[in-house]
Amino acid sequence: MSGAQADAGRHTDDPWWKAAVLYQVYPRSFADGDGDGVGDLPGLIGHLDHLEWLGVDGLWLSPITPSPNEDWGYDVSDFCAVHPDFGTLDDLDLLVAEAARRGIRILLDLVPNHTSDQHPWFREAASSRVAKRRDWYVWADAKPDGSPPNNWVSSFGGPGWTLHPETGQYFFHNHLEQQPDLNWWNDDVRDTFDGILRFWLDRGVAGFRIDCCNVIIKDAELLDNPPATEEDDFEAQMFGQRPVYNANRPEVHEVLRRWRALTETYPGGRVLIGETPVPVDDLVSYYGSGDELHLAFNFTFLSAPFDAPALRAVVEVTEAALPPGAWPVWTGSNHDMFRFPTRWAGGDPQRARVALLMLLCLRGTPVLYQGDEIGMGDVTLTQEDLRDPLGVRYWPHYAGRDAARTPMQWRPGPGGGFTAAGVRPWLPLGDVEATNVERQRSDRYSMVHLARDLIALRRQSADLRLGRYQTLDAPDGVWAWSRGERAVVVLNLTEGAVRLPGVEGAVRLSTDRGRDGESISGGLRIGAWEGLVAERSP
Ligand code: NOJ
Repeated sequence: MSGAQADAGRHTDDPWWKAAVLYQVYPRSFADGDGDGVGDLPGLIGHLDHLEWLGVDGLWLSPITPSPNEDWGYDVSDFCAVHPDFGTLDDLDLLVAEAARRGIRILLDLVPNHTSDQHPWFREAASSRVAKRRDWYVWADAKPDGSPPNNWVSSFGGPGWTLHPETGQYFFHNHLEQQPDLNWWNDDVRDTFDGILRFWLDRGVAGFRIDCCNVIIKDAELLDNPPATEEDDFEAQMFGQRPVYNANRPEVHEVLRRWRALTETYPGGRVLIGETPVPVDDLVSYYGSGDELHLAFNFTFLSAPFDAPALRAVVEVTEAALPPGAWPVWTGSNHDMFRFPTRWAGGDPQRARVALLMLLCLRGTPVLYQGDEIGMGDVTLTQEDLRDPLGVRYWPHYAGRDAARTPMQWRPGPGGGFTAAGVRPWLPLGDVEATNVERQRSDRYSMVHLARDLIALRRQSADLRLGRYQTLDAPDGVWAWSRGERAVVVLNLTEGAVRLPGVEGAVRLSTDRGRDGESISGGLRIGAWEGLVAERSP
């Protein structure tokens, strides 16, 4: 953007993460530095130049802590160390330093809801009913007939309670039985986690993505969940119950406030981003009154279909619901969901480009998932390939989450630049010949250049970074909005070209790169499945 809006610097009075583009790294699949088929921290350090070139400001790393990997790192067995598959604490320190040299901050994944059943805390807690840490987990007696204490189910399916025969009580797990839930009513658990946050913040980590934010606290009386009704979401209906007592408890906000206060004792704008799979109306509460999460993932947006009215509605509802000061966050893919180039774009590169433009032009912080920038889609896997416990359990009805966790596609050829030629990666590679970073970087019309140029445009434009969102009138199937004073964003999610009257100025950037810089007079024409950013004349 030009003139008064132009602002080429990164520096404003707003915290860095508002104007930032964040990028999720799934470390096991990003880059393999030591040739064992598994991504690691040295591999990531070796690819920071790509991320700097792309222009991202911060990386969220899925868990790097030790884990028996029943749930690929989300079953933590030591909260203050690095899994040997990924390297060492020295590697993490080097990553923080090397990333900082490139203007990139590092965020870690914090998994407070549960531990691995191999964690020394759980082993100790399970050693006897009077163990010192017994109360760190959620234990309860069977009903008189021997059945579980209540009707809670696991979000991974099946009962939420597992009997521990040695001590004769059940323990609760919102996920796998190898992931016992911690008891967040226990003050020692809270104090210990304060220490864990500090351990990483002291090492220069810029903040955390907090796993399972909405389920950390369980009802103290362990009341039965009520049955689901037709008004409930798909998941509640599938499980037959509404999770009001094993999740979504109001007391979780106390814990979030505690972490926010702790985080704010550190300089440099440390940030808390929550995994908050709740309806938009409830999402608001996770921001508190500016004293809980800085950013709360919007799963309603992530799960919406790729059509203009549906996406526009989620954004409008979110814009209306968030109070001033609560900043939205937008994402299209992550390690749990199918990737947007497949889910939203159905494998069509043109549509994927439009989706990318959308993510980078809304008001809020975009979080890209590794590979989004090259339009990596889901990889079709066979049953033998599966590593995710959910895929293993539910195949062929549900293949699990591995399709979105396959290795990053760096270049053509054996190993795809992810690992050495001849090494078997932990999950199979997708089509590295068709889609890879190297080829795209040498083609300025590619998706990766689109991503880079959009990120650069955001950085230059105060309107795109921080400007107000306002929906504009648009024909059916087209979603148009203004940002700030002069930026206009239009997505044509239809098969035919359309014209938007009343916009005069210039195209700043289009998914059809041949139009960049084109001047607009007599209304704005937008081709089928085109997305563009325009700047109105002053
Ligand atoms: C959410 C994580 O993103 C997912 O990968 C994990 O399986 C569950 N939480 C349990 O930690």
